[in-house]
Amino acid sequence: MTKLLFCILIVLHASITRAFAAHTLSTNQTLRHNETIISPQETFELGFFSPGNSLNIYVGIWYKKISLRTVVWVANRNTPLTDTSVELTLTLQGVLIIRNTTTGSIIWYSTNSSLTSVMNPVGQLLDTGNFIVSEEGDMINPIWQSFDFLTDTLLPGVKLGWNLVTGKERHLTSWKSNDDPAFGEFSYSIDKNGYPQSIIKEGQNITFRGGPWNGLTYTGSPNLKPNRYYNYTFVLNQREIYYQYNLVDPSVFTRLVIQPSGRLERLLWIDSKKEWSVYFSRLTDRCDEYDVCGSFGSCNINKPPICECLKGFEPTSPDHWRITDWSQGCRHTTPLDCNPAEGFNKYSNLKLPDTRESWYNQTMTLTECKKMCKTNCSCTAYTHSNISGPGSGCLLWFGNLTDIRMFTQNGDTIYIRLSASELDSKSSWSRVRVIIPMAFAFLVIIVSICIFYRFNKMKQQQHGRAGNESRNDPENTSVGEDIELPQFGLAKATNNFSINGKLGEGGFGPVYKGVLENGQEIAVKRLGVTSAQGLPEFKNEVILISKLQHRNLVKLLGCCIDGVEKMLIYEFMSNKGLDSFIFDKTREELLDWPTRYHILNGIARGLLYLHQDSRLRIIHRDLKVSNILLDKDMNPKISDFGMAKTFGGSQIEGKTNKVVGTYGYMAPEYAGDGIFSIKSDVYSFGVLVLEIVSGEKNRGFINREHYNNLIGHAWILHNEDKSLQLVAKCLGKTINISQVLRSIHVGLLCVQRHPEDRPTMTSVIMMLASEGPLPLPKEPGFYVGNMKQKAIQSSSSNGTSSNNELSISMLQGR
Ligand SMILES: *[C@@H]1O[C@H](CO)[C@@H](O)[C@H](O)[C@H]1NC(C)=O
Ligand SMILES: *[C@@H]1O[C@H](CO)[C@@H](O)[C@H](O)[C@H]1NC(C)=O
Ligand SMILES: *[C@@H]1O[C@H](CO)[C@@H](O)[C@H](O)[C@H]1NC(C)=O
Ligand SMILES: *[C@@H]1O[C@H](CO)[C@@H](O)[C@H](O)[C@H]1NC(C)=O
Ligand SMILES: *[C@@H]1O[C@H](CO)[C@@H](O)[C@H](O)[C@H]1NC(C)=O
Ligand SMILES: *[C@@H]1O[C@H](CO)[C@@H](O)[C@H](O)[C@H]1NC(C)=O
Ligand SMILES: *[C@@H]1O[C@H](CO)[C@@H](O)[C@H](O)[C@H]1NC(C)=O
Ligand SMILES: *[C@@H]1O[C@H](CO)[C@@H](O)[C@H](O)[C@H]1NC(C)=O
Ligand SMILES: *[C@@H]1O[C@H](CO)[C@@H](O)[C@H](O)[C@H]1NC(C)=O
Ligand SMILES: *[C@@H]1O[C@H](CO)[C@@H](O)[C@H](O)[C@H]1NC(C)=O
Repeated sequence: MTKLLFCILIVLHASITRAFAAHTLSTNQTLRHNETIISPQETFELGFFSPGNSLNIYVGIWYKKISLRTVVWVANRNTPLTDTSVELTLTLQGVLIIRNTTTGSIIWYSTNSSLTSVMNPVGQLLDTGNFIVSEEGDMINPIWQSFDFLTDTLLPGVKLGWNLVTGKERHLTSWKSNDDPAFGEFSYSIDKNGYPQSIIKEGQNITFRGGPWNGLTYTGSPNLKPNRYYNYTFVLNQREIYYQYNLVDPSVFTRLVIQPSGRLERLLWIDSKKEWSVYFSRLTDRCDEYDVCGSFGSCNINKPPICECLKGFEPTSPDHWRITDWSQGCRHTTPLDCNPAEGFNKYSNLKLPDTRESWYNQTMTLTECKKMCKTNCSCTAYTHSNISGPGSGCLLWFGNLTDIRMFTQNGDTIYIRLSASELDSKSSWSRVRVIIPMAFAFLVIIVSICIFYRFNKMKQQQHGRAGNESRNDPENTSVGEDIELPQFGLAKATNNFSINGKLGEGGFGPVYKGVLENGQEIAVKRLGVTSAQGLPEFKNEVILISKLQHRNLVKLLGCCIDGVEKMLIYEFMSNKGLDSFIFDKTREELLDWPTRYHILNGIARGLLYLHQDSRLRIIHRDLKVSNILLDKDMNPKISDFGMAKTFGGSQIEGKTNKVVGTYGYMAPEYAGDGIFSIKSDVYSFGVLVLEIVSGEKNRGFINREHYNNLIGHAWILHNEDKSLQLVAKCLGKTINISQVLRSIHVGLLCVQRHPEDRPTMTSVIMMLASEGPLPLPKEPGFYVGNMKQKAIQSSSSNGTSSNNELSISMLQGR
């Protein structure tokens, strides 16, 4: 019997491949949902597919030889097909169309221009991955080709850039997500304003600049080296501007992809592991972000603070610069005034500035180039346009130089215009002309400094006397005058921190309620004194965090420092913590299911903002029910989110020997080994979800039957298809069963034992919002198994669960 079945399968399979191993599509021929076209060497395959977890159907091209379905091109990106009653055909005019076979209506077509008079069009899939439509027998001049409509992938041999004759451009556009090939936000293209350069854009904004091609590589990737897998070239002439790479070793599979996250990745197929590995990627560190340091600033990832003004330049706004707000950039220390004595300093090992406002000539020499720059007062810098060989060509910049970064080696060289006084090497006469006034100036400065010091000392002595009289008023010694943070008369506002006004105890200290003189209610957190952070760093962090704005984060209004005492001032949340509702038997009914669902979605969005969207990339590390505050409209706001960063900033590294957090919410790898990541926050979020649904505390909960915590209990119920038993009784009829089940499912995905299995917050939000199928959760962390027997012997551990609320801050001996 089994033998027979086996044979039938084989025969069937053989017939399928024989019947549809065609690599052409002629007119009148249709390609159905279950059929594909295969290229002559069986490298690529074209057909219908569904990406990731999506149920939508698309027409695409993927590798035939790679077991993992890897789509390199999609036809109907923005018009997904919702069922299988569809077919792909080629019209007599040479237009590819996707048609609904039920209604006959056209859902997608390759082109709307019917100007070509074509006799006998035929479509064929080539081994390069290109699908072309051409006159039969004429493959050289296709009337349409998929390579002209690149999606997110650049295959070997494809030109990325401009055909200046036809005006056609080819660039990559990311998918919206791994499940959705629709046009995403990110694109990778060659910008031909000024000297051509490669850029990644998010919408209209540049997020990364690979920079101009210097003859050997993109200036932003100086360490890109020839390798044994592929070679690459950049062509710039009157007809074309393009980048292209070709396989050197034809047996490898490699592709360049712009990911939905905006990262540009070069992937290499590792056949032994059956996976794509990242050969290199762009946008890997802070200095890769576009224009971090502003005009004439340079970014050096190895030298914090990463931004520095180039030599001969100073911060435009020293106050902003000091607090790491570099957006205003730098300016010439001595302004330029088009004086003929102006010259150029040489700067080496850097990424050339943005060339959108530049000019070039590929045949000029460097001497001609310098002369040209010097005679035009709006020219700010010059260099070789091609460093290969002896160097050639001329590249001039006009206007501010932006997006410069320093490399440790192999970077480019640029000559920047400076006033005579800032030049490194000068003729002896000009040196003398400069030195004499300088010596004089120096003397004047010394004298003024002495006078200033004396004056200041006198002033300080006067102040000191005044200060002693009001030592307990932090206002007098609060944040220095150099930064703009709101300052508060705190001791007064909080009624001298009276215990009556105490709202609670947070992870890093007690919280008091206060009222400002203008009547605004605030919450004041008084921090302990154990922070290792210096005062300036603390202030910087607080300022940065106070700039984070999201409707699901509690707003930090300011800080206050008095000696070792530090205080943070937050907006006041009238409905207090979420714990005061869901764990309170008298108040739990106030939160019905729609409100709870609204809350858990809000928390997810706030957390996503911390993880991805904010400038700081914060890992919360102590996400729990009591850190979720509710405003008067029951909108959830995450609190304490900047604490991990402000209060021991240097620990934000992925591994710590000081574990801060709360038992019951800590991911196993964090509680055990101190390893934290956004995925440990995801774990805590999962616990939160289960607590919100069930109204039970994870840690306090012990199931009598199988001696598991809430997570384990939820996991067991889920596997027995009884998840609804987990739902808090008080929710009663308000629940939406599919939302509840989905939330529990997502919660279980978040608490999976292995961090790599847990979804990111982006996926969490998508999973909560969508209706599609979800991956099956694996065993959660801290799952002790189903121990019905053992449960009877032990009940003593019930007692330890009462301190669920307290954050711990323990030092591990390691
Ligand atoms: C396509 O079908 C039409 C009508 O059935 C027929 O006239 C035409 O010859 C066919 N073309 C090809 C290439 O088979
Ligand atoms: C493809 O599906 C159609 C109906 O949807 C069926 O008639 C046809 O036999 C199928 N072809 C193969 C090769 O399975
Ligand atoms: C085709 O049309 C039918 C009838 O309108 C519709 O039910 C079906 O969803 C359509 N299929 C696609 C793929 O659009
Ligand atoms: C063809 O499509 C282009 C863009 O997709 C559009 O701008 C143009 O108006 C269309 N032409 C016709 C005749 O529909
Ligand atoms: C582009 O930048 C502007 C200003 O910084 C911002 O308002 C806008 O949201 C950005 N657009 C995208 C798509 O990121
Ligand atoms: C750069 O110079 C090298 C050698 O002089 C030359 O072969 C190459 O074509 C030049 N590249 C460009 C883009 O001009
Ligand atoms: C890259 O390698 C291919 C295949 O070996 C070769 O044909 C091509 O000329 C090389 N291109 C460059 C720029 O070296
Ligand atoms: C580039 O410079 C050369 C030599 O100075 C000159 O002959 C040529 O016309 C210039 N080309 C352009 C496009 O300006
Ligand atoms: C300087 O260069 C700019 C930009 O190319 C140009 O518009 C301007 O005419 C030039 N000025 C002089 C004096 O050559
Ligand atoms: C150049 O930067 C200065 C300040 O650094 C700014 O005032 C000016 O507007 C900038 N110029 C351009 C063209 O962006």
